[in-house]
Amino acid sequence: MKGSNKLSKLGTYAFADVDELVNDLTRRGITPIDFGVGDPQDPTPEVVRSACAQGIETRKSSGYPSYIGADEYRETVSEWVKGRFGIDMDPKTEITSTLGAKEAVFHMPLAFLNEGDHVVAPNPYYPPYERGTLFAGGKCHFLPLERENGYLMDFEQIPDDVARSLKIIWINYPSNPTGALATDEFYKEAVDFAQDNDVLIVSDECYSEMYYDTKPRSILEFGYENVLVMQSLSKRSNMTNYRVGWVMGDKDALALFRKVKTNIDSGTPTFIQDGAIAALRDEAHVKRMRDGYRTKRDIICSAFEDVGYPSCVPPATFYVWQEVPAEKGSVEVAKRLLDPSVGIVTTPGKWISKNVDGYNPGENFIRLALVPSIEACKEAAEKIRDAEL
Ligand SMILES: Cc1ncc(COP(=O)(O)O)c(C=O)c1O
Repeated sequence: MKGSNKLSKLGTYAFADVDELVNDLTRRGITPIDFGVGDPQDPTPEVVRSACAQGIETRKSSGYPSYIGADEYRETVSEWVKGRFGIDMDPKTEITSTLGAKEAVFHMPLAFLNEGDHVVAPNPYYPPYERGTLFAGGKCHFLPLERENGYLMDFEQIPDDVARSLKIIWINYPSNPTGALATDEFYKEAVDFAQDNDVLIVSDECYSEMYYDTKPRSILEFGYENVLVMQSLSKRSNMTNYRVGWVMGDKDALALFRKVKTNIDSGTPTFIQDGAIAALRDEAHVKRMRDGYRTKRDIICSAFEDVGYPSCVPPATFYVWQEVPAEKGSVEVAKRLLDPSVGIVTTPGKWISKNVDGYNPGENFIRLALVPSIEACKEAAEKIRDAEL
């Protein structure tokens, strides 16, 4: 059976390759310590699980959910963003539920792109920024994230021919994989650029609650027109399996996105929204989560510092974007860590970055997702120190 041209042009999803390497070790009887995929392994909070279970009982007859999310869900989101970022979002027109951020990222270009139009995305990057664009018939132009610039995108680097057909700019802070935060100046610049050039800026803020010292801000604190924000409970509340999040912002842009979504899915299951409401009303579990990741971050970062690698302590997210020696490169270091004598899975930066004009900004980095337990991180730190990297 032959797939579509669009599908056959795509490579495999990078994390499918990581999974394959892990399976290979497992088949050989080795259980690796897996820092590969950013999927939290701690349990979903009890308060969330019981709200979902209760939701199933309360809603005895099923019925389709609301396309845009139940009133109570959107109202709770609105209250939460007011408390967290100090912004006013009208639950009726400025918030819509999603099946997690991934589907929203993938489907967003369908609302704004015509054949051949451009989007701009960060590099290294979250693959659906490009994949959704390609499926919508568009082209993706990448802006590199460089350590020297605090991993901030430089909009000045957008070429004129790209700017002429530019419809969406994706930004993602706190950033996967770099862990970087946006500065206030960066957000101001992004809003100005979007408004001056009549481009939509979509800010993927799904890691906003995973910070250590400085609380990340939202781009919506800096501007509203031409701005949408993606949010998700996957990481904040260990709810990756539940598939729930929201998009909020400029009501004209949101109306177009809602129109696309009514043609694709039938909304987020209401009992999942019940769980999400409970999650948003509880900050205690989020604080515990942050404390746990801080401990793991410090254990892992100090191990790399001890072997002479540059200090790469992230201010946010549960990723460590570790610089490795240029003469080795990301793939060689990741392979060395994957050797059965070490048994640590990381993601080579090269795999999650695009080669643009012969330059790959992830070439000399590996990414570690701090999802194993604290005990496993301690064990991994010892292995890193002994690994002759
Ligand atoms: C930058 C970024 N955006 C979106 C997502 C998707 O999250 P969700 O589980 O909400 O689909 C991820 C998941 O890893 C991510 O890293």
